[in-house]
Amino acid sequence: MTEKVTASIIKADVGGLPGHVLVPEEILEVARRNLQEAKESGEIIDFRVFNAGDDLDLVMTHREGVDSEKIHKLAWETFEKATEKAKELKLYGAGQDLLADAFSGNVRGMGPGVAEMEFTERKAEPLLAFLMDKTEPGAFNLPIFRIFADPFNTAGLVIDPSLHSGFVFEIWDIMESRRVFMKTPEEMYDILALIGGKSRFVIKRVYPKEGGKLPADEPVAVISTEKLYKIAGEYVGKDDPVALVRAQSGLPAVGEVIEAFAFPHLVSGWMRGSHNGPLMPVPFRYSKCTRFDGPPRVIGAGFQLANGVLVGPVDLFDDPAFDLTRQKAMDVADYIRRHGPFEPHRLPGEDMEYTTLPKVMDKLKTRFEEV
Ligand code: F6R
Ligand code: MG
Ligand code: MG
Repeated sequence: MTEKVTASIIKADVGGLPGHVLVPEEILEVARRNLQEAKESGEIIDFRVFNAGDDLDLVMTHREGVDSEKIHKLAWETFEKATEKAKELKLYGAGQDLLADAFSGNVRGMGPGVAEMEFTERKAEPLLAFLMDKTEPGAFNLPIFRIFADPFNTAGLVIDPSLHSGFVFEIWDIMESRRVFMKTPEEMYDILALIGGKSRFVIKRVYPKEGGKLPADEPVAVISTEKLYKIAGEYVGKDDPVALVRAQSGLPAVGEVIEAFAFPHLVSGWMRGSHNGPLMPVPFRYSKCTRFDGPPRVIGAGFQLANGVLVGPVDLFDDPAFDLTRQKAMDVADYIRRHGPFEPHRLPGEDMEYTTLPKVMDKLKTRFEEV
């Protein structure tokens, strides 16, 4: 136990209604009930339960630090109970992300996605949660880069001396299981050379620099980077990443964080995890993937922390200010859909390796002759 607070999002797809559209109220209720008990027994300080499309997202605060066996076990058991209910309702893909038979100390590598960070709660601590469906962890690269490194997005990088010195990015190479720490603005081009390849290099955390207003060893943003196919060895659904971002007073303002989602950039993961499509920011009530199992979506939940208690959420994209973004996303969706089975709507060969396409290719193997 420490005096610092830890914010954790642990998430899994435990079944959809219908197909992969959304998590129904019955399942959300099971999760709420389980976490309410944990709150009453003092295991966690507070929690909120969300659905990003068909993903069940548990947002929790506690004093156990990151990678806590206690907290991960609580999440795992919550998913197990939710799965039981999902099976009873015969939901689609009931329990699909629980890839291990039994919990063994930490949910990492067992199917669920995790984004958590431990930090000293400031006098006022805005905390934003972003939850995506039908896409991969690299979908966060563009908005997170723009929030913490792009002066055309974040005015504070230019105007506020406490942001002016920049940030440190922890970037993971998820193919080779290695990481690198790089600084902005000085290594900005090198960072972009990596994270532009978003299916391989993903931003895992962002830290303040030494000597600034905030402790340099406490992250200010964290993204879940679990790749389901790396765990399961085959396609079992999309990773559907989540992120936590702290804001204000030496960090990008809440509005600068949100601004980074005003461009509906193309991400992979739509329909069968095999297509590119625009990432559409939506209010909670539209957190359901319908057209062609999508398009990929993100919801944003805004909180203030009060000694670990979550005050909020505010539904960040429930705002006409995002109508044009959504309109553009729908125009792009319509345009790219007309490519049907052709790239670049369908993902290129190497990214299709873990989908069901290789099985089709296998069938044709013997038909080819030398030319
Ligand atoms: C799931 C997803 C969906 C499914 C599709 C086919 O995350 O993205 O698009 O891949 O609905 O699902 P199956 O193969 O289960 O019929
Ligand atoms: Mg699903
Ligand atoms: Mg999903």
